[in-house]
Amino acid sequence: MRIFVTGANGQLARALRNAVSQQAGLDLRFGARPELDLARPETVRAPILDFAPDLVVNTAAYTAVDRAESEPDLAFAVNGAGAGAVAAAAAEAGAVMIQLSTDYVFDGTKTAPYVEDDPVAPQSVYGRSKLEGELAASAANARVIVLRTAWVFAPHGANFVRTMLRLAAERERLRVVDDQIGCPTYAPDIAAAILAMARRIESDSWRDSFAGVSHLAGPDAVSWCEFARRILDESGRRGGRVVPVDPIATADYPTAAIRPTNSRLSTERVARIFGVAMRPLDDALRDCFDLMGAGGV
Ligand SMILES: NC(=O)c1ccc[n+]([C@@H]2O[C@H](COP(=O)([O-])OP(=O)(O)OC[C@H]3O[C@@H](n4cnc5c(N)ncnc54)[C@H](OP(=O)(O)O)[C@@H]3O)[C@@H](O)[C@H]2O)c1
Repeated sequence: MRIFVTGANGQLARALRNAVSQQAGLDLRFGARPELDLARPETVRAPILDFAPDLVVNTAAYTAVDRAESEPDLAFAVNGAGAGAVAAAAAEAGAVMIQLSTDYVFDGTKTAPYVEDDPVAPQSVYGRSKLEGELAASAANARVIVLRTAWVFAPHGANFVRTMLRLAAERERLRVVDDQIGCPTYAPDIAAAILAMARRIESDSWRDSFAGVSHLAGPDAVSWCEFARRILDESGRRGGRVVPVDPIATADYPTAAIRPTNSRLSTERVARIFGVAMRPLDDALRDCFDLMGAGGV
């Protein structure tokens, strides 16, 4: 199976590269800026058609959630129109597409985990731009799977785990938001799930039931504060510096973008349709620390 991945250097793309190196029968090609730039849709078509993929995974995105509030045009160009251009090229190549999206399409007021057909109401430029990408991709290619994930971490890249470890090394105590709840999701587990989905699409051929939105996130719901404590617990077990983590309210940590209070995603659909399951947070964290300890990947 031939898989084209955009956003070659991001957390998820790197995890896909590492996962594929352990699997036979998969041929991956990665596209990155400046050759493939979602802000310049004219650069998207040729690299994808040239590779003639069976599947295109669009991981590339403008992911700076707070900065997007002051750069809405760029965020919408990349996450909205750019995703549409990738989907159009995938359609022309006869390829299925997986479009990564986000829990931030929801407003966070629901008290239970969000299911795929819950009403969307993004509260930030980033969330609105990703929602536009979901719609643009689905309009351009009938064989699009929109995969909404959340709170992504990895042994590499810019993420909460690495930020907490850096701050714990610098400060005597941390203050972390305790009234936003979400499902931390390990990038290598997303990569493994995507490859399992790819194999299912290959073995069963395309089914219309695959299309549409699926949620894929870690099984454990925690606050950012609880997540920080789990990270420092694991670090402490390995001899890392542990400092107290004080819970604070969102109101005490103002940010440019509004984030959902409840970000929990139900993954019942992706388990039923594709048979994928995600590892518990503590198992994923251990794996992440193992890889960071080995010098990262
Ligand atoms: N991170 C999260 O917590 C989170 C949560 C929910 C959903 N998601 C979604 O999951 C997907 C993967 O996220 P991630 O964490 O792997 O993201 P990431 O680590 O921030 O990587 C994003 C990648 O997109 C690339 N990119 C940015 N602008 C681009 C452009 N104009 N053209 C081409 N590539 C561009 C970046 O390239 P450079 O290396 O050149 O900067 C980077 O490699 C994204 O669609 C994101 O929206 C992420």
